Amino acid sequence: MTPLFVPPDHFRELQRTDIFPDASRPLEIDLGCGDGTFLTGMAAHHPERDFLGVERMLGRVSKTARKIAAQHLPNARIMRLESAYTVAWLLPRAGVSRLHLLCPDPWPKKKHAARRLVNQAEFLDGLARILVPGGEFLLKTDDGPYFEDTLLSLASRAHQFERLDWPANAFFYPTTDFERSWLDIGRVIHRARWRLVAP
Ligand SMILES: C[S@@+](CC[C@H](N)C(=O)[O-])C[C@H]1O[C@@H](n2cnc3c(N)ncnc32)[C@H](O)[C@@H]1O
Repeated sequence: MTPLFVPPDHFRELQRTDIFPDASRPLEIDLGCGDGTFLTGMAAHHPERDFLGVERMLGRVSKTARKIAAQHLPNARIMRLESAYTVAWLLPRAGVSRLHLLCPDPWPKKKHAARRLVNQAEFLDGLARILVPGGEFLLKTDDGPYFEDTLLSLASRAHQFERLDWPANAFFYPTTDFERSWLDIGRVIHRARWRLVAP
């Protein structure tokens, strides 16, 4: 199995076993995984889970693939594709135990707010489709308006998503590259976590 995952058909919903062979293992997605520091950190710490990174920039995909290979992580792969499409149409139905959206591009201009993933119905519908029952969506961002948008979007779907507590150090969760940069210059990182209660 190579670190790089290429879907067998970009226009068909994936089977869980298309990505990793054992469908009984939890699958976690790192959406917009950048250079793969969080992805590989998680995969090394949790050999009993599988991890797929999604990233559109070729250089970052290559860097992530190299990290996976260098650390000999059979439970991590990287796919070069667009996040919204991946969640809305490609990932396996009820196949994902946790989806991580960490420091997503904030689209700070008001006129671009609709481009934020969390403001797109297709993304939220997709999230409800791909998570297993009780599966989790975890978000971290330094961007206040993005965080507020996410709280409002998920609150408008309270029949589907229930907010969970996320105290500091509640579980193993490596700092991401962008998070480190923001913390180093004194920015505050907001975080929130939800569980799927109904698809
Ligand atoms: C601000 S960086 C955060 C990277 C990493 N999650 C971190 O926290 O260090 C956002 C990443 O998402 C990727 N990205 C942005 N929009 C994307 C999209 N629509 N599809 C796939 N990747 C995307 C960017 O290329 C970039 O690597």
